[in-house]
Amino acid sequence: MTVKLEEMIVRLFICFLCFEIFMTEGRTLVGIDDGTPIVRSKGGAGRFNLITGKPLLVHPGIKLEKNAPKRGSSGGTFNVMDYGARANGKSDDSQAFASAWKDACASTGKVIVFVPKGNYLMGPVKFLGPCEKVTSITLQMQGTLLGSDLSNFGTSGDWVQFGWLDGLTLTGGGTFDGQGAKAWPFNKCPTKKNCQVLPANLRFVNMNRTRVDGIKSVNSKFFHMILQGCSDFQGRRIRITAPDESPNTDGIHIEESNDVTIAETVVGTGDDCISIGQGNTGITLSGITCGPGHGISLGRYPDEADVKGLIVKDSTLTGTMNGVRIKTWENSPAATTASNMTFQNIVMKNVGNPIIIDQTYCPYVSCSSQSPSRVKISDISFKNIRGTTTSPVAVTLDCSKGIPCQGINLENVQLTLVDQKTSLRGKKPSATAFCQNVKAKYSGPQFPPPCNSQ
Ligand SMILES: *[C@@H]1O[C@H](CO)[C@@H](O)[C@H](O)[C@H]1NC(C)=O
Ligand SMILES: *[C@@H]1O[C@H](CO)[C@@H](O)[C@H](O)[C@H]1NC(C)=O
Repeated sequence: MTVKLEEMIVRLFICFLCFEIFMTEGRTLVGIDDGTPIVRSKGGAGRFNLITGKPLLVHPGIKLEKNAPKRGSSGGTFNVMDYGARANGKSDDSQAFASAWKDACASTGKVIVFVPKGNYLMGPVKFLGPCEKVTSITLQMQGTLLGSDLSNFGTSGDWVQFGWLDGLTLTGGGTFDGQGAKAWPFNKCPTKKNCQVLPANLRFVNMNRTRVDGIKSVNSKFFHMILQGCSDFQGRRIRITAPDESPNTDGIHIEESNDVTIAETVVGTGDDCISIGQGNTGITLSGITCGPGHGISLGRYPDEADVKGLIVKDSTLTGTMNGVRIKTWENSPAATTASNMTFQNIVMKNVGNPIIIDQTYCPYVSCSSQSPSRVKISDISFKNIRGTTTSPVAVTLDCSKGIPCQGINLENVQLTLVDQKTSLRGKKPSATAFCQNVKAKYSGPQFPPPCNSQ
């Protein structure tokens, strides 16, 4: 085969970026290895979830007893400027943050890690516990962290990671700016199944009693915030933004967590505002302002754990591709359940698919199996959902023919079609509903008119 001229040009261009390509090709979500005295895990070995990097649930094995505190050994404030941070936005300040954290974590009682106003260029950094004698640890973030180039990430996980902590508060009005624009072209996940996953801005792993209040996350290279194995997590007044064309920049992804509340939060990105993954119980989302993006979604992948007890309420979605979406993969092999969910008091403004249950989800050209989803969806309520839809089908209840949905309730649903072009032709089409393998219960006003099938 001869190589066409265009291909040669493309290759030359790619080779010009060889270093970055090499680095991104080596990435897996396995392993927490950033050169600090942490036992390296075997990169690439074992199973991991492409979206969530499950193996990170294994503690990397940090040895904290070596970290003798330099100062403030009992409580107090640890200012990153005292640890050599430059805050000039140009020289890498990761080491100063890591050192301040080490001392704070090795201290006792209530401790504060203080980040004054300023711009801090940072490579991947980990704030890990356990902090044995610390009762609460606050990261008081007033500054702006700037994510360094993808080439600095090697094969390790995310950008800023918190893990194995009890009683973390992250606050201060500061910003985590992933500077993702240069990395986005390297993300092939929207079209390729076995893709390299880019670093998330913030990941919280195996955390208890976490409070995140008043912080911003912008232009992450991948997901903005990932909660994994968190218990008692309260997030409020979080602002998350990325351009609507940026790939996989989900706002907040939650999995294997319980007792999580996200409130008064504004998310506008190129993907889901909030996505609920596997193994969650007791998740409440309230006062969420979402858009642009793909909406609030409950996505399930093959072979995962149940999701139970989700409340989404008092929220507004504007211009999103979907509203509230429950999707399960067409070929989900595991017999798991998604149950006890309430979507209440939600305003949809120019939203595509405002209400959608999709059990034939397959993001690629074709999925390997033709068998119906084995995820059982039950006890799902949609109450007081109103506004406008951009898709003629406003309500889609497309359930598995293997296991029909059960206990689906719609109460007071009023969705009208935004009729831009069509009204010019003098026709006024109205929104419709589509049902398959479901027998839903309806009460109160219903627009579009109810559908049913079994
Ligand atoms: C979180 O709480 C669980 C249950 O009490 C406990 O087993 C676990 O060790 C705690 N984790 C941390 C990091 O404190
Ligand atoms: C349903 O979920 C809610 C909210 O998480 C919870 O309070 C309630 O106990 C759950 N009900 C059942 C039957 O599991």
